[in-house]
Amino acid sequence: MLAFLDSGIGGLTVARSLQAICPAADILYLADRANAPYGTKSEGELLPLLSHSIRALLDRGADRVVLACITASCLYRRLPEDLSARVIPILPFVAERIAEEKGHIGMIATEATVRSTALSSELSRLGVHRPIEKAAAQSLVALAEAGRFRAEDNGVRRALTDAIAPLVLRGVDTLVLGCTHFPYFEEAIRSLYGGLKILSPARIGAEALVKILPRELLSGEGRLRYLVSVRGGRGRT
Ligand code: DGL
Repeated sequence: MLAFLDSGIGGLTVARSLQAICPAADILYLADRANAPYGTKSEGELLPLLSHSIRALLDRGADRVVLACITASCLYRRLPEDLSARVIPILPFVAERIAEEKGHIGMIATEATVRSTALSSELSRLGVHRPIEKAAAQSLVALAEAGRFRAEDNGVRRALTDAIAPLVLRGVDTLVLGCTHFPYFEEAIRSLYGGLKILSPARIGAEALVKILPRELLSGEGRLRYLVSVRGGRGRT
């Protein structure tokens, strides 16, 4: 069984893109609401929380756990070995896609991902040493969780322009959505910055997963089951 993990609805962008390509894939999706957001936490705080959630999914019968979260993916090399062997982080897929790009690349992401050196390390492994312009857009995570995605929403427009306008001024022409909550804003970003090429972790992640996952993990009944952790409580589906 294939499981996905994120702090909330972000990883659903990847899960749904995967099911759009492989409609028979069964997915158990954990929204770790009890510990959301991930992007404001330090690596020391987040690592044990991730280990706990991954173990919970493996205990429920998951064969592989997709870290459908860039913030969590930044830490996958620091997970205990018994867990990292069962985990598929999406950050390396995004790094591979960036490595193919020729443009001036910028990335919006959570505070933790902007601080992290994990993406540059992944790029260095691929022989890419170009700097990536980064901007934190943590407030977009809460806006997405609140179902506020549209450019007409003042809060959304302000959050997007505060993060993206400085990147555009620095010459960025290719924007990486460095958080799985951000594909929800793709239409809003296109309407505000029509000239930008957008790299979405939802599409990149899904296309890569289809290539690497064993067939049996993609051939089920096309179910998407949810598990939500709640603060001070037990997880429920
Ligand atoms: N969706 C996540 C990511 O890709 C985490 C957002 C958060 O919880 O701050 O980074």
